[in-house]
Amino acid sequence: MHKIHAAITAVHGYVPDYVLTNHELESLVDTNDEWITSRTGIKERRILKGEGLATSDLAVPAVNTLLQKRGIGAEEIDLIIFCTTTPDMPFPATANILADKIGAKNAWGYDLQAACSGFVFGLATGASFIESGRYKKVLVVGGDKMSSIIDYHDRATCIIFGDGCGAALLEPTAEEGYGIIDSVLKSDGSGREFLHMKAGGSLRPATHESVSAREHFAYQEGKTVFKFAVTNMADVAAEIMERNSLVADDIAWLVPHQANKRIIDATASRMGISDDKVVINIERYGNTTNGTIPLCLWEWESKFKKGDNIVLAAFGGGFTWGSMYIKWAY
Ligand SMILES: CC(C)(COP(=O)(O)OP(=O)(O)OC[C@H]1O[C@@H](n2cnc3c(N)ncnc32)[C@H](O)[C@@H]1OP(=O)(O)O)[C@@H](O)C(=O)NCCC(=O)NCCS
Repeated sequence: MHKIHAAITAVHGYVPDYVLTNHELESLVDTNDEWITSRTGIKERRILKGEGLATSDLAVPAVNTLLQKRGIGAEEIDLIIFCTTTPDMPFPATANILADKIGAKNAWGYDLQAACSGFVFGLATGASFIESGRYKKVLVVGGDKMSSIIDYHDRATCIIFGDGCGAALLEPTAEEGYGIIDSVLKSDGSGREFLHMKAGGSLRPATHESVSAREHFAYQEGKTVFKFAVTNMADVAAEIMERNSLVADDIAWLVPHQANKRIIDATASRMGISDDKVVINIERYGNTTNGTIPLCLWEWESKFKKGDNIVLAAFGGGFTWGSMYIKWAY
């Protein structure tokens, strides 16, 4: 029987207007531009300001423009997978809220939580729904309003994260060998204590004490996370190359999760990929968690050519990590 393949057929992104620079952070915590730039590669990040605005509000402009570009209506979407660590609320799913806001009346949807690896996990899951023949248009959204869970008194985390969102449409392709070719996805829950939010879940529901102890913010042990990220992201990227008999020259672009420029450099070096093939926008947006990879796809879309071999690589809290091999289909 003819196998159905899933391909990305459109991408778009959105970042809010407000720019939080390293210099502004110097007025909030004991840090400086030189330290942040040399340790992370980040110069500025975007922040969603304004009452009543949530992660779904970052997704609405990204998705609406994506649909316009593809020339389809929201009612044609079958499924929405919303990859986020900062859902609008614990329930219902932000996917449902987004469906309502954009008028995706015929879609069902759910949220996917895999921290910074979420978008790669979401693409892999969405591709399976297409490959099964069950659905024709799956929207995978990756976005976070990280500023809603960042403690701007904590210099270990506030320098890193920002707000942003991107989306990709998956559709079946008749062309053999194009689209999502392979993925390697991993997780190890024993790493959860190094990057997590201590309270607000069923383990420690919100109390006056948990709020006073500032436990509703992202907590990170940076050195440990760095160590695991640098090894695992590079390993998984190398694994997908080996599995698919790819050498560095075969790869047109590496699209890595934008956690830290040094982690990106280590991954590229392990793969033998030169700097000009590595997609990097961390200096402008910081780490937008689920948003980094789709924002990169959006910003580099015009440079991608049909048939380009693209490798995605991600690492996130959990720990979670993964890579994906895509042959760009348009
Ligand atoms: C957070 C991170 C940039 C910190 O860099 P680091 O080299 O590990 O820094 P350390 O935490 O060891 O701190 C080194 C020194 O800088 C200081 N420091 C920490 N944060 C600082 C800041 N924002 N500004 C200035 N100094 C800072 C520390 O207090 C420490 O000082 P000391 O030597 O006097 O004790 C780095 O660990 C990292 O990027 N980790 C991975 C984070 C990540 O990618 N998370 C997302 C995963 S998806």
